[in-house]
Amino acid sequence: MNRIFSGVQPTGNLHLGNYLGAIRNWVKLQKDYDCIFCIVDLHALTLPQNPDELRKHTREVTAAYVAAGIDPDACTIFNQSTVPGHSELAWLLGTLTPLGWLNRMTQFKEKAGKQKDNAGLGLYAYPVLMAADILLYKATHVPVGEDQKQHLELARDIAGAFNRRFETDYFPLPEPQILGEATRVMSLRDGSKKMSKSDESDYSRLNMTDDADTIAQKVRKARTDPEPLPSEVDGLAGRPEADNLVTIFATLAGRSRADVLGEFGGKLFSEFKGALVDLAVATLGPIGAEMRRLTADTAYVDAILKRGAERAGEIGARHMNEVKDIMGLLRP
Ligand code: AMP
Ligand code: TRP
Repeated sequence: MNRIFSGVQPTGNLHLGNYLGAIRNWVKLQKDYDCIFCIVDLHALTLPQNPDELRKHTREVTAAYVAAGIDPDACTIFNQSTVPGHSELAWLLGTLTPLGWLNRMTQFKEKAGKQKDNAGLGLYAYPVLMAADILLYKATHVPVGEDQKQHLELARDIAGAFNRRFETDYFPLPEPQILGEATRVMSLRDGSKKMSKSDESDYSRLNMTDDADTIAQKVRKARTDPEPLPSEVDGLAGRPEADNLVTIFATLAGRSRADVLGEFGGKLFSEFKGALVDLAVATLGPIGAEMRRLTADTAYVDAILKRGAERAGEIGARHMNEVKDIMGLLRP
């Protein structure tokens, strides 16, 4: 059976982009693949984190997976730092990764900011750790949002470099799965920026834990332009905020954008936003409530993570031994 690996960083403010771009797609895939869903706490540490918050957010992401419909009995759910193979394999793969490949990574450039010399080695090596996450389990498919595409191409390149160097076909080249229409959900305040956990304005995003009133307020305040909605998809060109809201609506409703515009074309945003509030409350509301309930049940969440860590740890340990043998690392 083909294997899926994917992950979310426990950095707080899980939002609609994480849900539509990633987690919701995983729910559909769990029947057809052996699925491993990770909470990538080592990746979170590439930027400063408060230890208590990191623990809290690790449980919160676990709760989000389960609340969104991922079955902890059918899938492996665990936090990255519990399986030593991630860090270990990242080191080994780092020895095969040219700096030139890392220097192309746009996310590093965004996160490092202007003072590159102050950025940490961990942030620079982030994509190598991500390649290790995937390859440690010999995953074949990786469902993510559009912003991770470049990192996945690098993971494929690193897998290829290993296979060539050691004249083997040990690592499968992982396939990105960038699914659905909402592969890049944009900020509600600025249609040119992606919706992000780190945006300082909470009005830029719908959080997975927002209650009905908050969802309604944020949607009503979302930036739009003064024109009514177009009747055709082509009419969304050059109107990023309109495009974003229509895409969100279509994805939440499981309809095409053309179909949504067939209904709302020519109407004012005030009317469309009213319908979007109802839809968002109906779809996100129950998930948020379940997330809050599960997050409070620490024992239940920790039991899921413990079970997941055992299963992931077994696979990881087996593969690490194989990799060490291939690379010539003696295991006396
Ligand atoms: P992160 O929040 O960076 O840990 O991302 C976790 C997952 O959510 C990854 O698969 C991302 O590609 C996806 N994701 C994050 N932000 C967005 C967004 N604005 N639109 C679509 N997918 C997103
Ligand atoms: N870098 C990913 C993100 O920020 C999270 C991640 C880490 C990941 N390791 C992964 C995603 C492995 C898929 C596979 O969104």
